[in-house]
Amino acid sequence: MYAWRSLRLGRKSNPTQSLCWVVHRYYVKGKTASSSRWLERQHKDRYVRLASQDNYRSRSAYKLIQIEDKFCFLKKNSVIVDLGAAPGAWSQVVSERVNLDDAAESSRIIAVDVKDIKPIPGVTIVSNADVLQAETLTKTMAAMAPFVQADVILSDMAPSASGNHSFDHYRIMELARAALGISLSLLPSNAGVFLCKILEGREKKEFTAQLKRHFEVVREFRPPACRQNSSELYVIAWSRLKVSNTN
Ligand SMILES: C[S@@+](CC[C@H](N)C(=O)[O-])C[C@H]1O[C@@H](n2cnc3c(N)ncnc32)[C@H](O)[C@@H]1O
Repeated sequence: MYAWRSLRLGRKSNPTQSLCWVVHRYYVKGKTASSSRWLERQHKDRYVRLASQDNYRSRSAYKLIQIEDKFCFLKKNSVIVDLGAAPGAWSQVVSERVNLDDAAESSRIIAVDVKDIKPIPGVTIVSNADVLQAETLTKTMAAMAPFVQADVILSDMAPSASGNHSFDHYRIMELARAALGISLSLLPSNAGVFLCKILEGREKKEFTAQLKRHFEVVREFRPPACRQNSSELYVIAWSRLKVSNTN
């Protein structure tokens, strides 16, 4: 406090003796330590290195590649909506797998996120779009035109981690339910695929039960590219049931 007051009053003080200085040093030191831990982890991570070699925008690309290699749900001539797409690695993978050059007329990839997404060849971008807002469905449908239904809805959405697992679980499940709502509006009956990231936790059981009420087949999968210390996993659901029992 003394330092601030001295500064405002134009007096000279020894900053190393002030509380402000100590707090400032502590904060900067803490930040530096966690940033360097993050940098060290990134450096050691083989998927980070692979992503930079393969020109993917993030290591997340390999999660989708591993899920797709197992379940094979990305086909040519498809309409695919990628929710929570920034920075864009999943959309890059999707555009490679549906081979847009060959099938541009009958395929469409729509990348949706609250954040900005830099252009990706063959991908229609809907940025500044929050899935918790109803208008995001309208914007997504406008981006799909002339198609009115989608074949695949992907959601890799996640809120920024707070460090509190229950809170993060609750928030990601809120996003997962919003993604499911969008899927039910866009996928046709007796068809369609919905892939969604969630975190382990108390709401998982109810969410998968909800998926089973709307889709014929529901599976869980944790691709090897998920970080070891993360409790994330993916649920994948096929073939939207014609008559939904409840919500
Ligand atoms: C793990 S990142 C996705 C990475 C992406 N799949 C990729 O491969 O580049 C999670 C994304 O979810 C987005 N997100 C979080 N909350 C959202 C919301 N309410 N609406 C739309 N996107 C959201 C974040 O902005 C972030 O870009």
